[in-house]
Amino acid sequence: MKRSEMEQNILKVLVSEEQIQKRVAEMGAEIYDKFKGKEPLFLGVLKGSFVFMADLVRACQLKSDVEFIAVSSYQNATKSSGTVKIVHDLQQDITGRDIIVVEDILDSGNTLYFLKNYFLTKGARSITIATLLDKPSRREKDITPDYVGFEIPDEFVLGYGLDYKQQYRNMPYIGVLKPEVYSGE
Ligand code: PRP
Repeated sequence: MKRSEMEQNILKVLVSEEQIQKRVAEMGAEIYDKFKGKEPLFLGVLKGSFVFMADLVRACQLKSDVEFIAVSSYQNATKSSGTVKIVHDLQQDITGRDIIVVEDILDSGNTLYFLKNYFLTKGARSITIATLLDKPSRREKDITPDYVGFEIPDEFVLGYGLDYKQQYRNMPYIGVLKPEVYSGE
């Protein structure tokens, strides 16, 4: 899909490219201050986090490495199924590591509730959660993020890594889709 085609389906821009860049730089600096002298592992939750992860690690010049896990709970729906499935597991031992979990969005909390327990059972020493977006009004599980880019209302958002039916992840801002694009589901 061309950028112009994507933009035709966007109702409004919720968080602009400039706002994201400024906030990610701030988050990188905050995380740097907390972890300087340590060697944390940035652990991105695919697929949605890949854009934020790339920007956040560059905004945070710590001695650190990166890892990914891929999970799915939405299976192309707009509401969480509640069941989290690992579709690509960790490729390294995380025993004793300070983990910074990087998420694009925290919604019901089902994904991070599952992952936090999973990483602890794998021997992580500490878990810090950094999410670009937070929808606290939708929370079903007791999960509180340590770093939040933007708190947003309960609207279906996409762009900057977030998708609708696997598309729009490459939009450089966070937008809201026109209802007619997904109505009828
Ligand atoms: C999204 C997002 C989070 C999760 C948050 O992933 O990336 O991982 O949902 O929702 P929750 O707090 O209600 O669990 P999704 O399952 O859409 O997969 P994707 O990252 O591949 O787009």
